[in-house]
Amino acid sequence: MRPTSYRTPDSQGFAFTPENEALARRIVARYPAGKQQSAVIPLLDLGQRQNGNFCSPGVIEHVAAFLGMPPIRVYEVASFYTMFNKQPVGKYLLQVCRTTPCWLRGSDAVTKAIKDFAHIEKGETSADGLFTLVEVECMGACCNAPMVQINDDYFEDLTAESMTRLLQDLKAGLPVQKGSQSGRIGSARQDGPHTLNHLPEGAYPEGILRGDPPPAPPAPPAEPPKS
Ligand code: FES
Repeated sequence: MRPTSYRTPDSQGFAFTPENEALARRIVARYPAGKQQSAVIPLLDLGQRQNGNFCSPGVIEHVAAFLGMPPIRVYEVASFYTMFNKQPVGKYLLQVCRTTPCWLRGSDAVTKAIKDFAHIEKGETSADGLFTLVEVECMGACCNAPMVQINDDYFEDLTAESMTRLLQDLKAGLPVQKGSQSGRIGSARQDGPHTLNHLPEGAYPEGILRGDPPPAPPAPPAEPPKS
């Protein structure tokens, strides 16, 4: 049973805004009766976003009260997943991928560019509160290595120069280009297509794109049994 005191800001001073409380109720309603505690992760995410990207003890305790869970169980979830920030972070959380493909493609230089620009080391936040630098493992964009996740967005095909430009633009409040910073489309080859580059214009006959044989003609209708 959900306690009625969850509306009250807890000892850490956090409570959902009325809009987020309504959203939290809609999220909880997605789960079958008796399984509402399964909403703990989306509710922690909601609380963290409301709280400036910081999953504080107040967020954790408020979510626990909202779901009628012992706080320790919510602490266990929050401490397991690295996307919940247990320390305050800057406006821009810079997550540099350091796994092998990104490392081979220059993640060390990208990391150094961030350190030099923001005057921070790993795990630190810049004095102006704008940038926090952390290292993470593969984020699944290896084909566009090296890459950095900044808040919710991926920035790929980075160099020290493009990383520095990106930080300058973020600091100046300018719009930035997400995705590849080298101009390629998605993860297409950097030097253009090497296959399927002489296809005719217009609609293709059925089966041509995969080299399939043309579809078999429909079978004739079965003969009626002779009496
Ligand atoms: S190694 Fe960096 S995204 Fe996979």
